[in-house]
Amino acid sequence: MAENTDTATLTIKGKTYELPMHSPTGGPDVIDIRKLYGQADVFTYDPGFTSTAACDSTITFIDGDKGELLHRGYPIDQLASKSHYLEVCYLLLYGELPSAEQLEEFECLVTNHTMIHEQMHNFFRGFRRDAHPMATMVGVVGAMSAFYHDSTDINDAHQREVASIRLIAKMPTIAAMAYKYSVGQPFVYPRNDLDYAANFLHMCFSVPAEQYNVNPILSRAMDRIFTLHADHEQNASTSTVRLASSSGANPFACIAAGIACLWGPAHGGANQACLEMLKEIGTPDRIPEFIARAKDKNDSYRLMGFGHRVYKNFDPRATVMKESADEVLDLLGVENNPILQVAKELEKQALADPYFAEKKLFPNVDFYSGIILEAMGFPTSMFTPIFALARTVGWISQWKEQLADPQLKIGRPRQLYLGEMARDYVDIEKR
Ligand code: SDX
Repeated sequence: MAENTDTATLTIKGKTYELPMHSPTGGPDVIDIRKLYGQADVFTYDPGFTSTAACDSTITFIDGDKGELLHRGYPIDQLASKSHYLEVCYLLLYGELPSAEQLEEFECLVTNHTMIHEQMHNFFRGFRRDAHPMATMVGVVGAMSAFYHDSTDINDAHQREVASIRLIAKMPTIAAMAYKYSVGQPFVYPRNDLDYAANFLHMCFSVPAEQYNVNPILSRAMDRIFTLHADHEQNASTSTVRLASSSGANPFACIAAGIACLWGPAHGGANQACLEMLKEIGTPDRIPEFIARAKDKNDSYRLMGFGHRVYKNFDPRATVMKESADEVLDLLGVENNPILQVAKELEKQALADPYFAEKKLFPNVDFYSGIILEAMGFPTSMFTPIFALARTVGWISQWKEQLADPQLKIGRPRQLYLGEMARDYVDIEKR
């Protein structure tokens, strides 16, 4: 933590408290309130944690005003154009870009752990065919702790490493199996001669009845989607993983908790919700009606795929994602896709509207990822599982970082209590 001799002075009921401050390498200074309750018998109040740093971290940095996203200091646009997902995984996990030898060893390790225990296939068969794939993923990932006992001891560095590789390697297999189960097709085993993204497309779209060749433009776009979703500071699902891990829960349980949180439409479920919104709009002439609803104070309706808690000018991932969307749609000859027409017109009208300008609302990463996935042939129900697959390395990296923190203690927020104080029980005949 960077040394900072500044202090924050707080005066409460005539008594003054000096609180230490810490300076980050990027972002706002922080006021250290760890001793405030003990000294002044007061809590701080910050529902939604809009002004609260819950931890220190060296993994990812976002500058919301500049629209900057750094992974271990490397800008996301450079990683998206020059790197690839497994190299970004190595960077997030170990802090530095790998040498050619380190990368080859890491990719070989991941590739050779992509199969899941054969008996886990039975888990899928316990779900209805129309179960949402996110429900399946929460269940199957949580159940991994029942099969991989030799990588659940969080106090053993080797077991933490094995669990990390297993989760990164097996998430595409589990996500693809959830998809195949939902469409009634047989599971497709991973192939070690394919790269990570191509393997995922193969497991999703190949069928035993015919040869399936992965289109390199689609696998490149898939890999880029994985990279753009890899990590994002202390977002809701990452904070969930950290809180679950603070109790000592095993890695599979923590990642299952992260998947559950990501499912929500305000978070990772936004890409599915965004496509469903575009389909509901249907034609460009209906866009004003939906924009009016999003602006109506008396209507809780929001434009899915717009806005962000941290980015207040643009989401740098959306900029890169938009380029991929154009490439994929040109390749697939669906640039005239009616959904894409609605998306492009909605973006144009929303960005020209003063409401969105003054509230700094713009397309986020989910606005374009859904369009690409739709064009690739994924059902909207698979959009968030793909987000979860990609974010697993971020969750794991943050999980490992927290476990290595000597100050780690169980997360246990307090509250502003507004309920009844002690009162005596009233017998039912007297109520
Ligand atoms: C992700 O945290 C992360 O990093 C998340 C993520 C990641 O990589 O992990 O980036 C992934 O979750 C991206 C966001 C995906 N969600 C959506 O697209 C859903 C739609 N967006 C909104 O739900 C909303 O913008 C949030 C949840 C993303 C952010 O909400 P905030 O920061 O809590 O902002 P807010 O709800 O306080 O809104 C501020 C104002 C409000 O108006 P006022 O009450 O001030 O009058 O902006 C309005 C809101 O009504 N507003 C919107 C809007 N989003 C905010 N109005 C219309 N449409 C929207 N989408």
